[in-house]
Amino acid sequence: MRGSDQPTLGTTVLGIESSCDETAAAVVRGGRAVLSNIIATQEELHEEYGGVVPEIASRAHLERIHPVVRRAIEQAGAGRDEIDAIAVGHRPGLIGSLLVGVAAAKALAWAWGKRIIGVDHIIAHLHAASLGTEALPEFPAIGLVVSGGHSSLFAMHSALEVECLGRTIDDAIGEAYDKAAMILGLGFPGGPRVDARAQRGDDRAHDFPISRLEPGSLDFSFSGLKTALLYAVRGTPTGRGAGATFERDASRLNEAEIDDHCASFQRAAVAAVMLKLERAIEQRRDLQHKPIRSIIIGGGVSANTRLRAEAQALADRLGLSLHLPVMTYCLDNAAMIAGLGCLRLDAGLVNDLTLSASPAGTY
Ligand code: KG4
Ligand code: ZN
Repeated sequence: MRGSDQPTLGTTVLGIESSCDETAAAVVRGGRAVLSNIIATQEELHEEYGGVVPEIASRAHLERIHPVVRRAIEQAGAGRDEIDAIAVGHRPGLIGSLLVGVAAAKALAWAWGKRIIGVDHIIAHLHAASLGTEALPEFPAIGLVVSGGHSSLFAMHSALEVECLGRTIDDAIGEAYDKAAMILGLGFPGGPRVDARAQRGDDRAHDFPISRLEPGSLDFSFSGLKTALLYAVRGTPTGRGAGATFERDASRLNEAEIDDHCASFQRAAVAAVMLKLERAIEQRRDLQHKPIRSIIIGGGVSANTRLRAEAQALADRLGLSLHLPVMTYCLDNAAMIAGLGCLRLDAGLVNDLTLSASPAGTY
């Protein structure tokens, strides 16, 4: 998959990603030209459980990692000699899944005599918007990662120097979408399904809460929205926790009612994100900081139709440039790992074979 905008110069990095339920490998040159991008999804393995099962995920990574890496190298048409380093997403994520990618990257780095680079999966999501495009963001920027595991805001001084400004205090936005889909009987993964149904529904049918938290807070909360949806669908529960019983089940909803719930949920979820994004930009307008020039968004939920449209409207209103990944790079992929790996390599930020996987992120 050689892109037409592919720089012929620059470092070439093989990236490996296995933090959750996608086994992926990619080769990227010069930080943004994607020479190959292979993703083996495990969606079908986890669907019947309504979420990712860690044991199943790590076993599937083990089976897939070698063919996926081999295909990425073959498709890139780059010989072993042309690859300068191997980058791997080593945090955060499911530990058993991360370990498969890290072990594969280390083995290759050792066997081929290449340098190894540990890449933070969350920061790599912010690099995804720079893949395959000429339109690179200007800094400082505000970065927003909206994924299945994270909802976080960053002040970005460059693609490598980031400062976390806020994060979710409960569910991540993607997790809330997946739970909303479960409540409505739409299956897994929920985000794309709720998004598609929301296009047809009335977004004012239900007045779901838009989480603001304390004035000035840049943190997110999505558990109240999820609970409001649950109660709207099933009525107020009797009892608490696992023993709670509800007045009704979701199967009483007709198709149009499901669409309305999805649209109203999506309106509140996206409004909460936009509110914090704008708040973050405003807070950086004081004299201590250089004015923000761009908004950069990444993570699975950056594929969301409404979020993309509202982010564009916000950027236009504030006179900022908006950088969103093309659809292929919104969800987990290894091109974002390899791309950020190129930048780290150029900056001399490399690791050695003691690199380890970590389930927790720094952000
Ligand atoms: O970034 P990602 O692939 O994995 C993590 O690092 O978590 O994000 C996956 C999440 C899932 O929760 C999925 O439901 C959500 O992204 N997602 C969406 C959409 N497409 C994927 N959420 C809302 N709207 C979408 N169109
Ligand atoms: Zn991710």
